[in-house]
Amino acid sequence: MSDKMKVLVVGGGGREHAMAWKLKQSPRVAQMFVAPGNGGTARDADLTNIEITDVRALREWAQAQGIALTVVGPEAPLAAGVVDEFRAHGLRIFGPTKAAAQLESSKAFSKAFMKRHGIPTAAYETFSDPAQAHAYVDQVGAPIVVKADGLAAGKGVVVAMTLAEAHEAIDFMLVDNTLGVAHNEGGARVVIESFLQGEEASFIVLCDGKTVTALATSQDHKRLLDADQGPNTGGMGAYSPAPVVTPEVHRRAMEEIILPTVRGMEKDGIPYTGFLYAGLMIEPSGAVKTLEFNCRMGDPETQPILMRLQSDLAEVLLAATEGRLSDLTLQWDDRVALGVVLAAHGYPLTPRKGDAITALPADRADAVVFHAGTAMKDGQVLTSGGRVLCATALGADVATAQQRAYELVAGVRFDGMQYRRDIGYRALKP
Ligand code: AMP
Ligand code: GLY
Repeated sequence: MSDKMKVLVVGGGGREHAMAWKLKQSPRVAQMFVAPGNGGTARDADLTNIEITDVRALREWAQAQGIALTVVGPEAPLAAGVVDEFRAHGLRIFGPTKAAAQLESSKAFSKAFMKRHGIPTAAYETFSDPAQAHAYVDQVGAPIVVKADGLAAGKGVVVAMTLAEAHEAIDFMLVDNTLGVAHNEGGARVVIESFLQGEEASFIVLCDGKTVTALATSQDHKRLLDADQGPNTGGMGAYSPAPVVTPEVHRRAMEEIILPTVRGMEKDGIPYTGFLYAGLMIEPSGAVKTLEFNCRMGDPETQPILMRLQSDLAEVLLAATEGRLSDLTLQWDDRVALGVVLAAHGYPLTPRKGDAITALPADRADAVVFHAGTAMKDGQVLTSGGRVLCATALGADVATAQQRAYELVAGVRFDGMQYRRDIGYRALKP
């Protein structure tokens, strides 16, 4: 067990920076690569960025390098079959196959899967004919939720409070495709589902095909502005643990959603391996429903979750790729971790790139500014995407973690920086 490994993280966001930051601390890791990485992973002398995104070229590179373990961050390479490609050539990789990743990449697949296996979720219908979709919305009424079938980088969901908004969403998803959704086979489809009320949480587990191990609980803040106002985003901040996930909610999420999903996938001949993320809606009645599945960790949830993980992530992922998760118990820091996303000017619709990041506080073990949309150019760190950084800190309680994360934020400078001032507010409620 003393062999040192070369390890590869696939992706280039804040989640992948946090994964690489955690993995490089493992005594099992000899060398860490990130493909393609970002400005933060480029600046770190312990990490090496690899400018390859094509799945086959990456596999060829990994073979030539002797990469012993690969972990995949984002959905796009999973949906492109990176796990299938690596496994077909005998490489060890943690993530779901392309077929299993349909739980995220196709809303039509995941909704039909949930219906078939009795997994609680909002009632829905799927349409490819716009006229039928319009008629259905008129029949059901608002509020109603319209979702594009296909990966849309978090922009394919419209929670329509009025009928007019619902009709408009159907047109831009089915008729114009102004979102640029990567359609699944069979062309453009929408899922129209009933509106659910309650509080959301992110429920993320590791799965080795048989055993499921829950990660620490977390909650994300999806709206751009304070007090959950403004447009939906990929996530403006997150913290762990999430008090809304009470032991009872945890039990119901595992027994009613996660375990039936993993068993259902096995029954359907598509065994699930990798991270599995259920977006939960916790209804006022205490019922727990599935809003969506993601076949990966959340971003920014990963940043606070991994800051609390005390176990060796390389060991955990090795066990997960060898079907040995049942041998492990994850160890967590009792403190709260909280991350505040610093987004670019114009995010989420038209993020501006190329602003110089002129101040960045130094990392400490319990306070790190993870990079996401950044790039190194001529020795300078520039913004290069919508969500730029995630200032993440540990504290004895929510208030302390929040205060320490905002102290980090105060040390960051770039033009047009946007961030929420209230990350963690739901956990601060009396
Ligand atoms: P999704 O990508 O399916 O998780 O949807 C993105 C966001 O839209 C979720 O985080 C919720 O805030 C909201 N949403 C999705 N589905 C529903 C629903 N059925 N009822 C209410 N809100 C929803
Ligand atoms: N933060 C939400 C997600 O990763 O999908």
